[in-house]
Formats: sequence, structure tokens, C-alpha cells
Amino acid sequence: MDRRNLLKYSFSGLAASSLMASGLRESFLKKVEKTSFSLSSTNNDEDYWELVKSEFAFEKGLYYFNNASLGPCPKLVVDATNEFRALLDGFPSKYMWGGWQDEKEATRQKVADMFSADKEEIALVHNTTEGMNLVAHSIELGPGDEVILADHEHPSGTVPWQHWQEIRGFKIVRPKLPILPESKEELIDVYRKAITPNTKVISMVHGTNTNGMILPVKEISQMAHEKGILVAVDAAQTAGTFKIDLHDLACDFYAISGHKFMFTPKGMGVLYAKKDSQKYLKPLIVSRQHFKDPSIRRLENYNTRNYPEMLGMGTAVDYYNLIGAEKREARLRDLKAYFRGKVENDSRFKLKTPGAEDLSCAIQNVEVIGKKVGDVKKMLFDDYMIDCRPIGSHGINGLRISLSVFTTKADVDYLIDALKQV
Ligand SMILES: Cc1ncc(COP(=O)(O)O)c(C=O)c1O
Repeated sequence: MDRRNLLKYSFSGLAASSLMASGLRESFLKKVEKTSFSLSSTNNDEDYWELVKSEFAFEKGLYYFNNASLGPCPKLVVDATNEFRALLDGFPSKYMWGGWQDEKEATRQKVADMFSADKEEIALVHNTTEGMNLVAHSIELGPGDEVILADHEHPSGTVPWQHWQEIRGFKIVRPKLPILPESKEELIDVYRKAITPNTKVISMVHGTNTNGMILPVKEISQMAHEKGILVAVDAAQTAGTFKIDLHDLACDFYAISGHKFMFTPKGMGVLYAKKDSQKYLKPLIVSRQHFKDPSIRRLENYNTRNYPEMLGMGTAVDYYNLIGAEKREARLRDLKAYFRGKVENDSRFKLKTPGAEDLSCAIQNVEVIGKKVGDVKKMLFDDYMIDCRPIGSHGINGLRISLSVFTTKADVDYLIDALKQV
């Protein structure tokens, strides 16, 4: 295969057609070719995952278990974004005002394909916070109406509703979730009990940022829809971890941060809005296209945007596809089992994340018994250069360990050794 065809084959869409059409440098295209070739290998041994890790330029000596706070970009995404930035600065007005129309739509299509959605259901926004704000600002509730927000919601999922509650006077209902449910039915039950005839919206996180627990969005959405309740989902911690089919998930709105497990450039996100539910949404920002474009694009800011990052998101999806959704998910589940297997029968530790496959994936939380989590976090960083997030809320007192495709089993061994020393 000649290079053009190889790129088309392994790096479909943006890099192949539009990137090449955009006059990108030969040196960059060579890197794309090399990475595409090695990552699309069918190998699945530790050497393969070491190779994946080598695609990330971490600070020397750093062990990064904090992907749930912020993800890194693989070098390819960094390089692509820099290429876009150089092009933009070479001819600013051309690229900002229409020159990248096809590339922007190609990015939307890639994101739609990644989540089995329709391109016309995908708004390219900046992050989960923006998506959740857009939903809360749009839905005009009033006195007597209720919104359910369980106790593990992130501030990006609560503050927008609390803000509008003060202005519009609806009620927020805050049920408590168990942190170690035996099954998803236990979680569904919490929501079932919180629903009243006044419930209009359930706003829920897909994966909690506290202990990485996965909530059964599909079942809760089905239950909600039977009662005419809308479901908005904060997907900051799930997008890019396991395979997500948004039509099957059945929620109305799904707000994604690209810059965590999807490895997009920082400040890129997605708001999915189901076709039939788009009528409820109003843009946060309005400008020139507002009265002309009834499509989901009306929810994006039409004026000057961060296009290098937006197109870099397309490259991040290409990168995701190079490894492949199934292989990525299987790896994260394998790492989870490997990590849990090392701590679950050790009386010095207590896992604070449910283990069932439908209840957790890339994020695990572990308590070092008898130690304050803040102290453990500090020791891990000061003595071992391990970065992870201490969680002290909800009675957890545990370290949030994010596992990612750049995590190797040797990294997990290093973490476990350090935890044992601590
Ligand atoms: C569950 C959850 N929701 C929302 C956010 C906010 O993400 P962003 O800053 O990308 O909007 C985070 C960030 O950690 C999160 O964990």
C-alpha cells in the first residue's frame, strides 16, 4: 500500500482525507504512518501496552494514576493539534471562517460513530460542565417541579441546577447512593424511590468521580421515560473507557469531557442530545447563525473557536480507533482485575469501588486502613512520584486510582509496592 492508502486504511477520515488535503507537513505524516502501523497491531501482550505508553510524553519519573482528573494527549494528538495551530496561524481568517468546515464536520461524524449516535445529535462544546449548564439553563422548570440529583454528583452536575433553582424555584431532591452496591438494582431502587409525580428531570453521573461507580443509566432512563421524565447524564468519567452506544443507553442528554479518558486536547467536549429531546435545548451563547441554523450546531458557539483543539479531537478519536474500542475496554478491565487482585485479600487495604463489571471499569478507589487519605496521597507523590486523587468525601477516605491504556502492569506493581510501604 502506498502511504496515502495506508493512512486511509488505518487512520480513516480526518488524518487520511482532510488532514492530507490541508497540506500538513511530511514529517507529521510520517509520524502518523508509523503510529498507525504499530498501534493497529493485533498484539495484546505487555510489550504492546508498553508501546502504547511510549506514545505519551509523561514527565520523567512520573507514575500517572490521575486520568480521571485530566488525561494526557498521546504525542500524535499533540502533534496534530500543533499542525492545525501552525496552519491556522499561517492564514487565520481562512481557517477560522469556513476553511475547516469539512474537517469540523468530519470530527463530528467521528465522535458520533464512536458513541453510535447520529452526527446531528452531536454538539462540539468545551467540556461536561458546559453541557450540564446548557441542559439546566434550557429546561424551564418552576415551583412544584422536582429534579433528582443523587449525592455523588460532581459540582458540574449540581451547581447549574442549584443556580437555576434559586431563580426558578423548583425543588432539588438528593437521594443517597450506597458506595458498595451488591447489584445495579440497588442503585435503580434509589432512583425509583426518589421519583414523585412532580419529578421532571433526573440529572445523573454515569461514572462517579468519587469511587468510579458506574450507574445504570439505561434502566434509569427507561424507568424515567415511562413517567415523562427527562434524563441528563454527566459522562466525564466514562467516555473513552468502555464502549458506549448512546441510542441503546436511552438517555436524553449526555455531556462528555474529551480531555479525560478520550485523550483529546484540553477544552474539548461533546453534548449529545437525542433527536426528539433537542427541542428542549437553548444555546448558552448566541451569535450570527442563531436565527438561521435550527440544527444541533446552534448549541455551539459559532464565533471564534478553538479549532486546532476541535480538530485534534478528531485525531484523538482516530487514535482511539487505532487501538480499538473492544481492545481498550478489555485492557481496562484486565488492569482493574489485576489491581483488585493485589489488594482485595490484603487486610491493610479496603476497596471502595464495587467490583462487578457493570458497576465499575477504569476507576478504582482503595483505602489504606488506619491512614488519612491526604497523608497517603502526599507520601505517594513525595516518595514515589505517583499521582492519584485523594477522596475524603462520602465516608470514603480512599485513593482514586485511574487506570488507563497507558498504564502497564509494571506501573500497577510499582503502585502496589508503594502502597505496601506506606
Ligand atoms: C463526574 C465529573 N463531572 C464533571 C467534571 C467536570 O469536567 P470538566 O471540567 O471537563 O467540565 C468532572 C471533572 O473531574 C467529573 O469528574
